Amino acid sequence: MNTYRTLSRISQPFSQPLARLYLQRAPASSFFTSTRLRNQTHNPDPQPSTPKEPQTHFGFRDVPESLKEKMVGQVFANVASKYDVMNDFMSGGVHRLWKDHFIRSMAPGPGTKLLDVAGGTGDIALRFLDYCHRIHGDATAQVQIVDINSSMLEVGRVRFSRTAYTDTDQVSFLVQNAEHLDDVPSDSVDVYTIAFGIRNCTHVDRVLREAHRVLRKGGRFMCLEFGKVENPVVEKIYSLYSFEVIPTIGQLVANDRDSYQYLVESIRKFPPQSVFADMIRDAGFTTVGRGWEDLTFGVAAVHSGFKL
Ligand SMILES: C[S@@+](CC[C@H](N)C(=O)[O-])C[C@H]1O[C@@H](n2cnc3c(N)ncnc32)[C@H](O)[C@@H]1O
Repeated sequence: MNTYRTLSRISQPFSQPLARLYLQRAPASSFFTSTRLRNQTHNPDPQPSTPKEPQTHFGFRDVPESLKEKMVGQVFANVASKYDVMNDFMSGGVHRLWKDHFIRSMAPGPGTKLLDVAGGTGDIALRFLDYCHRIHGDATAQVQIVDINSSMLEVGRVRFSRTAYTDTDQVSFLVQNAEHLDDVPSDSVDVYTIAFGIRNCTHVDRVLREAHRVLRKGGRFMCLEFGKVENPVVEKIYSLYSFEVIPTIGQLVANDRDSYQYLVESIRKFPPQSVFADMIRDAGFTTVGRGWEDLTFGVAAVHSGFKL
């Protein structure tokens, strides 16, 4: 599919007042406020939905399922232009080490066809192509970057335009929901990656089922996602950093505290590694051993499974 057409087909990023309202009501950064909200099971605010509509979480808030996708869309439309620099600020550059490790664990061979879902600004895709070029001298590997958000993909497209991969068939972009990869044929890709994306999706089980469908037999599913830290001392420090420092960095660097408050809350709502590994197996994948590798005390984890 033509990249430019795909991007321009999509209208302006979501900007309805409703999502704005939710974001503006996101909790203040106080650690105590955050702790209170962490324990809160229901959003006390009146919801603009029918009582029967299924609810899901948006950070620590309960929201109607039908709204979450748009609200997440608003978050990433807000952060797109600052996304890469914010990742470096927030993680002190550690996200780069995790992503490098992720690609080394994949160890793609020449000609690998990768589908990078929730690929955002192209961090995984670029590393993948660089790895294939550096290790194998290969210029036949291909990656399709899929994301629901055209703003994030547009930043990625500009980034790729400064590389040797631009205007080659090694990279393409597609705006699509990970839950419905309608333009990706079944059994068509060698590796499926999703990095720091799946926790933002409304129905994680549907994302996993789609991953299984599009992979060829023998293909590999790989997910890099935040995890749960077991060590109590590290967990305490990590919590303080997440709830106190990250939203403040968001405010100072991106002038957007609320989006970063959502991001840290969404990390806490994502299931622990063992539960997510079970979901991956439930979707039909075969895992090796327990199915994941913790990085940095479990702050992040690489999950992997094969379609056999
Ligand atoms: C935290 S960013 C990660 C970007 C990139 N993978 C990385 O590691 O830097 C999460 C991305 O997930 C995308 N996303 C959220 N929900 C999605 C969905 N349902 N389908 C596809 N992409 C989605 C967002 O638009 C955003 O670009």
